[in-house]
This record gives sequence, structure tokens and C-alpha cells, in this order.
Amino acid sequence: MEIHDATFISGATHLKQMPPPSFAEIAFAGRSNVGKSSLINTLVARKRLVRTSSKPGCTRAINIFRVRTREAVLDFVDLPGYGYAQRSKAERASWGPLIEGFLRDRPGLRSVVVIIDIRRGLQDDDRQLLKFIDSTRPSALVVATKLDKVPKSKQRFELSKLQKAAGVPVYGFSSVTGVGRDELWRTLLREASISQGEA
Ligand code: GTP
Ligand code: MG
Repeated sequence: MEIHDATFISGATHLKQMPPPSFAEIAFAGRSNVGKSSLINTLVARKRLVRTSSKPGCTRAINIFRVRTREAVLDFVDLPGYGYAQRSKAERASWGPLIEGFLRDRPGLRSVVVIIDIRRGLQDDDRQLLKFIDSTRPSALVVATKLDKVPKSKQRFELSKLQKAAGVPVYGFSSVTGVGRDELWRTLLREASISQGEA
């Protein structure tokens, strides 16, 4: 996948601050520090479009990035990570509604990518999120990232275990090696219903 352009559009800590949707949107959600921002950078082949951090809790706003490829223009939405206990109570209380409100009410949202650390598997809050998405419009898929951390001989087993637990399609990925990038792109374009030549 060749990326012509990838730019930051806006960041919002309240739904009211969000610009109206202009293109098909794909949202990326997952526990804090799971590798959401790294995955977006890998997909768009930019090292530092999205800020990443070894400290959990780096992404605190809903950030929108516009991505232009030969086939399509679409918006990637980096959601704040959940499940990070060390944030203040008030901060944590404001994110549930922010993420849920976005997933429920955002017109133009086509698909939600729920990112899981392959070494940790599905946690309670991931399950809750998948259940929540199931009750709203957009489709969900799971990306199991940090695949490079699991020995090759165990990867297939871990992925099929996760597939059973999640009940939605699971794609293996690594932001370090780039494995899974092409397949995920094909899936996302399909989810966004963008066929070749459109946009
Ligand atoms: P928050 O914004 O804090 O919720 O985190 P995030 O989910 O955006 O994670 P981020 O992309 O900032 O990555 C967190 C840490 O995991 C960083 O140290 C990354 O370098 C590392 N990391 C991300 N993806 C991978 C991967 O595929 N493999 C390995 N080995 N490390 C990764
Ligand atoms: Mg992040």
C-alpha cells in the first residue's frame, strides 16, 4: 500500500470539539500502551505521525488523521487507551463516555479496530468494548499486535485462541516487523467500502 499523504486533522477531548466527518472513518481502540499509535504509524508508513510512548497513557484525546492512498481517502481515528489505572479518577470517568459516545454517535464510522497485545490476550475491558460495539452500528475486528514478541512456532496457536475468544475476525500484526500490514490494509479498505478507483 502506497501512502500519498497522511496528516493530523484534529484532536478532541470532548465530542463537541470534533469536526464533522468528511470521509469514511476507521477507529483504533485498545488498552493503554497496547500499540495503537504505533500501528497507525506503521499503516501509514510514517515514523512519527502519531506520538507513541513507552509510558502508558500517552494518547489522551481522540485524534483524527487523514490518509490518502492511490485508492482512497479515509480518516483514521486514534482513541485514548483504556484500562490505565494510574490516571486520575476524574480523567478515567470522562473517557468511558467519550469513547462510547464516539462509537455510538459518529456518522461515517465504518469499522472499529480493537487492538490486543498477543501476549496478553483478551482482557475484561476488551470484551466489554467488543460487546458494546456489537450493540452499535460499526463492524469490529481485532488486531493482535506485538506478534514479533511471540515465537513463530506459537503464533498460529495464539491467533486461533484469540479468534475463538473474540468472536470476530483476528489479524496478526507487528509494528516492529511490519508483518500483517498489507492484509490489514486490504481489510480496512473493504470495511470502508472503498473499491479501487473510487475517491
Ligand atoms: P497509549 O496511547 O498510551 O494508549 O498507547 P498506544 O496504545 O498508542 O501504544 P504505543 O503505540 O504508544 O506503543 C506503546 C509501546 O509499545 C511503545 O514502547 C512501542 O514501541 C511498543 N510497541 C508498539 N507496537 C509494537 C510491536 O508491534 N512490537 C513491539 N515489540 N513493540 C511495540
Ligand atoms: Mg497512543
